[in-house]
Amino acid sequence: MERIKKADLKKLEKIISKYEGENGSLIPALQEIQRELGYIPQEGLRLISEKIAVPESQIYGVITFYARFRLKPQGKYTIKVCHGTACYLSGAKDITDSLSDELGIKVGETTDDRLFTLETVSCVGACGLAPVMMINDETFGRLTPRQARRITKKKK
Ligand code: FES
Repeated sequence: MERIKKADLKKLEKIISKYEGENGSLIPALQEIQRELGYIPQEGLRLISEKIAVPESQIYGVITFYARFRLKPQGKYTIKVCHGTACYLSGAKDITDSLSDELGIKVGETTDDRLFTLETVSCVGACGLAPVMMINDETFGRLTPRQARRITKKKK
């Protein structure tokens, strides 16, 4: 589980205190937390549950139902390395390992500065360009690990 930063916890407490004891305030509270922090920290679920008097399981259900809510911080840039068959056979794993090394995070994690999130995905429909990665909406193909690192570094 990601550890919540102290500053984020303070913000979360401040937001929640505004909604304390109000009926029907769960979704507006979650929206505001998502807007301010960029995610809903799992460590904050108990606090939200206590203050808004809604069971944690229900809050969790709402968060996972609505795609706009996230339980993990998301970087400004989301790097998706395609691990579909064509890309995998063309060295996608080496690209992922190289980026993981460059950014100091594992797949599914976000850098501390919240700049990059690293993910793997199945076929993104550009098999002719394998191996492929996407950074937000931009597609990069015929990559080598070195090129992938270079492209990523330029975003810093
Ligand atoms: S397998 Fe990677 S784009 Fe199709």
